Amino acid sequence: MSGLERLGLALLHRLDPERAHGLSLLALRLGLAPLPGPVSLPRLATTLAGMPLLNPVGLAAGYDKNAQAMKPLSRAGFGFIEVGAATPVPQPGSDKPRLFRLPLDRAAINRFGFNNQGMERIAARLANRRHGPVPVGLNLGANKTSENRAADFAKVLARCGPYVDFATVNVSSPNTERLRDLQGAAALSALLRRVMEAREGLQRPIPIFLKIAPDLDLVGLESVVEVALAARISGIIATNTTLDRGGLKSASRNEIGGLSGAPLFEKSTRVLAELSRMTHGMLPLIGVGGISSAEEAYQKIRAGASAVQLYTAMVYQGISLVPRIARGLDALLARDGFANVAMAVGTGRNAWL
Ligand code: FNR
Repeated sequence: MSGLERLGLALLHRLDPERAHGLSLLALRLGLAPLPGPVSLPRLATTLAGMPLLNPVGLAAGYDKNAQAMKPLSRAGFGFIEVGAATPVPQPGSDKPRLFRLPLDRAAINRFGFNNQGMERIAARLANRRHGPVPVGLNLGANKTSENRAADFAKVLARCGPYVDFATVNVSSPNTERLRDLQGAAALSALLRRVMEAREGLQRPIPIFLKIAPDLDLVGLESVVEVALAARISGIIATNTTLDRGGLKSASRNEIGGLSGAPLFEKSTRVLAELSRMTHGMLPLIGVGGISSAEEAYQKIRAGASAVQLYTAMVYQGISLVPRIARGLDALLARDGFANVAMAVGTGRNAWL
């Protein structure tokens, strides 16, 4: 981390977390952060559900909710980025404050509740983006007051799908009451059927991922896998934030919402490894939750992830963390004699089961 980035982070951490988040996005858009460009090294090149990636390190959903910083984010070192969540109609989200830093735990708790400008404005930005080597995906959400939440996902996909490289069905946010109920077999099956129909309606059928919660038990996971395979989903993103608490030291530890960052690492990696076992390594998996170093990104890959995503660690280590993780991952693959990312996927799965 440069001295300037350290100073910038120290200043941001004196502000309310949501304001700091807004300012970090603004700094990116104004070009105030030095960006390395996409990290491209032969060993890191891979494919995810048919998408070629320069490297397997992605931005997790929720940082650029309204797709306002795609251009700088594509130059930050990521191999792919996910924007959103987008809902059909704009919505303000939960009352503030709704984002909390847990510095002693290198974690965050958020209860944003899908605040976003709605699919029309987001589609307009997506349609105007310049396509480059870094795929951009959209996280699909449902409106809090929707009469038919299952239909919302298909609606957003139909509207924005023509302008993105992949989309994610997010039924795992803990901040919209009863949203996680859509992970149940019958509801999920009906929802995914609609989403896959909407996908068929696109001129270019894109990969569709399903993002799941880390709080499902093994029976719940088995049922999600069964439904996802039957629906011919392109891959699973494991995981979203957790409702679990425990072992946290920071003042904000009892805030309501989803916990992300370091304390989520083990739990989400276990879920990932279970998914890899249940799908015999045949379904692309994206590992997310608590990654803050190259070593942890590598552990997710060895647990079964074809690619990874991160968010919270950037709050503590800045955006220069991204190329550090990508380059560090390259060094770890080389150290262990893997010629590429794909060769390492799942090779350490059993340690997590
Ligand atoms: C998120 N996350 C998230 N996920 C999602 O699918 N849709 C969303 O809109 C959001 N919004 C969101 C906001 C904030 C402030 C945070 C911290 C997180 C979850 C995120 O994509 C990721 O799954 C978790 O944060 C775990 O990864 P990290 O942060 O531990 O690397």
